[in-house]
Amino acid sequence: MTDETCQWQGWREATERALYGPGGFYLRPEGPAGHFRTSVHASPLFAAAVARLLGEVAQELGTSEVELVDVGAGRGELLTAVLAAVGPSLSVRAYAVERAARPDGLDQRVEWTDRVPRDVRGLLFANEWLDNVPTDVAETDATGTVRYVEVRTDGTERLGAPVHGPDADWLARWWPLREPGARAEIGRPRDEAWAAAVASLAAGRAVAVDYAHVREARPPFGSLTGFRAGREVPPVPDGSCDVTSHVALDACGAAPGDGGLPAAELVTQREALRRLGVSGERPPLALASTDPAGYVRALASAGEAAELTARGGLGDFLWLTQRVPDAAR
Ligand SMILES: C[S@@+](CC[C@H](N)C(=O)[O-])C[C@H]1O[C@@H](n2cnc3c(N)ncnc32)[C@H](O)[C@@H]1O
Repeated sequence: MTDETCQWQGWREATERALYGPGGFYLRPEGPAGHFRTSVHASPLFAAAVARLLGEVAQELGTSEVELVDVGAGRGELLTAVLAAVGPSLSVRAYAVERAARPDGLDQRVEWTDRVPRDVRGLLFANEWLDNVPTDVAETDATGTVRYVEVRTDGTERLGAPVHGPDADWLARWWPLREPGARAEIGRPRDEAWAAAVASLAAGRAVAVDYAHVREARPPFGSLTGFRAGREVPPVPDGSCDVTSHVALDACGAAPGDGGLPAAELVTQREALRRLGVSGERPPLALASTDPAGYVRALASAGEAAELTARGGLGDFLWLTQRVPDAAR
C-alpha cells in the first residue's frame, strides 16, 4: 500500500481530490458524458425547455437581452443546444461555469469561466451540479454518537471524530441521525455553494436540478455512490469514478440560516417540464395517415419526453427555483 492510499481523510476532502485534484475524474477529456447520461444528453427537448424558460425570464425582466449561466456545464452541451434553440428575438450572453478546461471547438459565443459571474440578469441554471459538490459523511456509532466517516483512497472506511459545530447544527436541522448505523451526507457545502450562486444574480431566476430528497424522506443510510462508464460502482475516491450523492435541495433553498435567499419553489422535473410544454403523450393515431413522417417524428419526441419525465427516473429529479426580483423595476 502506498503512503497516499494509507491516508485517512473525511469524505469531503477525499472527494474533492478524487474529482477535481490532479488527474481528477471530472478533469479528464471524456467529460461527464463519457460516464453517464444526464437529462441534457437524453434529449434536445430538455434544452428546448430551458430555452423556453430563458424566454420567460427575459419577458419578466422586460428585455430581449438576457444572460444565461450554466453552472457545472460539463462540456458546454446544454448551452450549445440552448443557443441553437432560442429564436432570433432573444439575444443571449452565455456563460459556462466549469472546473474542467474549455473543450476544443465549442461555440465561440459561449464564455468559459471557473467562477460564477457577478450581477447576472437572466437565468442561472445548474443541472446535476450540486450532487458533485463534495460533502462529508456522518454515521451514528453503536453508542449513539454521530461521527465523521473517514475513508482511504481504496474506499476503506472507519469512523472518526464526533461531528461538531456547524456540521452538527446542519444535521440536527436537516437530517437528524438516531439509530446506530444511520448515515447522512452533510449538505452544508452544497447550501453554501448554492447560496453564493443565487447571490450572483442581480435579477432573474436561479434553478438547480438534481436527484434530491427532502427532510421528510431522507435515505436512512445516505446515498453516496459511484459511477463509471455508465455503471453504478462502489464510491472509491481514487479518481477512477464519479463520487456523488443525492442533494438535500430543501436545505439548499433555505440556507444559510434562512437569511438573504428569496423564497424557494421545489417541484419534480415531471411538473417543471410539463409547465414548459414537454409531455410524454403519444401523437394521435390519425396523424399517421395524414402526415406519416410527422407522426414518426412526434412519436420519437414523445418517447424522449417520456424518458425525461419518467417515474423512478429523470422525472423524479427535483427543480429548485429561486426568483430574484429586479430592484430597478
Ligand atoms: C454531473 S456533471 C453535469 C454536467 C452537465 N451539467 C450535465 O447535466 O450534463 C457535473 C459537472 O459539474 C462540474 N463542477 C463541479 N463543481 C463545480 C464548481 N464548483 N464550479 C464549476 N463546475 C463544477 C464538474 O466538473 C462536472 O463537469
